[in-house]
Amino acid sequence: MRAYPVADGIWWVGAIDWNLRDFHGYETPSGSTYNAYLVRGSEKTALIDTVKEPFVPELLSRISSVMDPAEVDLIVVNHVEPDHNGGLRDVMAAMPRARVVASPSGVRGVAEYHDGLAVDAVTADDAIDLGGKTLRFLPMPMVHWPDSMFTYCPESKTLMPNDAFGQHYASEERFADELGLDAALEQLGIYYANILLPLGAQVAKAVEKVLATGWEIDVIAPSHGVGWRGSDIAAAVGRYRRWTAGEKRDKAVVAYGTMWGSTASLAARVVDGLAAGGVEASLHDIAVTPIAHIAYELLEAKALVLGSPTLHHGMLYRVSGLLTYLEGLRPTGRLAAAFGSYGWGGGAVKQMRERLEKAGFELHAEDFAVKFRPTAEDLAAAEAWGRAIAEAVRG
Ligand code: FEO
Repeated sequence: MRAYPVADGIWWVGAIDWNLRDFHGYETPSGSTYNAYLVRGSEKTALIDTVKEPFVPELLSRISSVMDPAEVDLIVVNHVEPDHNGGLRDVMAAMPRARVVASPSGVRGVAEYHDGLAVDAVTADDAIDLGGKTLRFLPMPMVHWPDSMFTYCPESKTLMPNDAFGQHYASEERFADELGLDAALEQLGIYYANILLPLGAQVAKAVEKVLATGWEIDVIAPSHGVGWRGSDIAAAVGRYRRWTAGEKRDKAVVAYGTMWGSTASLAARVVDGLAAGGVEASLHDIAVTPIAHIAYELLEAKALVLGSPTLHHGMLYRVSGLLTYLEGLRPTGRLAAAFGSYGWGGGAVKQMRERLEKAGFELHAEDFAVKFRPTAEDLAAAEAWGRAIAEAVRG
């Protein structure tokens, strides 16, 4: 397997996981990559990050197309989550002379994950000279874990920020300009919505912290998906600024579960009402649309309209699953409204309302519930309710 040059003296030597379909509950229909980079100076070579454990042979094969892995001098652990650090022990076995470094929190994380394995700490004050290539480090707590760190090579003007600016997307392309900028930005948004949304304040600080260094950056080489170079860097940074600032548009996401079609027919009319009220709407049956896609749809939306029939006095389990997921993502600063049908005693709408509040939404004043199969009047009322939500969204 071959390595891929990404900047002067820097090669991509990662692994492509075409078959990944779940990343801790986030559906990944397009797989992912675990990116690692080889930085070669005139005297020493460093490997920036390793890969998920089963992919170590692929990493070593790609390194072997450039040099003997046994001659690597330094391994930088930017992040201890197992998709980057899981293969560390196997990689170290293939690189017996390599020193291993991580952020101070990363040192603790490596020891905890790898049964006491001791590695060295680096901070923003450190610089490691590889001979004509230098490595600088910026600890970036909570982008994505407390141990997260960015590594920078000034001579190649390349930033390796690990999870930041990544996407779960498997491809042979290594840069956004090869994949297509629009497709890459969409994947960037899906990743941000599902991984980084609750960490927006820390991501905003990270962007400003890098800009404050004055580092020149020609290449952003993240740990997942494609990298960014040229004018695409400004496009990716612009999206991060928009999302961390919480910018939204007049859009509502309508998501529902249904038993016999009653809540589905209400949902369709709620969408009609939103559209009539001048609000963009998207409609998702939770049994069909992956939760990760609903989270992405919410990224720039001002409202979530959630529907469920009542089953055993409560909401459908898939609706509850979506709410559990959203409680983790904390999509605050958005309106939410609950609706649904019921056969005799209700319960789902009240339950959804409580859970939406717990997830950080502001609740629309009125819920909407219909007994049994909606009549023509009920459907018209659902549309009017959607229109009232549109007014709240636009107001
Ligand atoms: Fe790609 Fe937070 O690990």
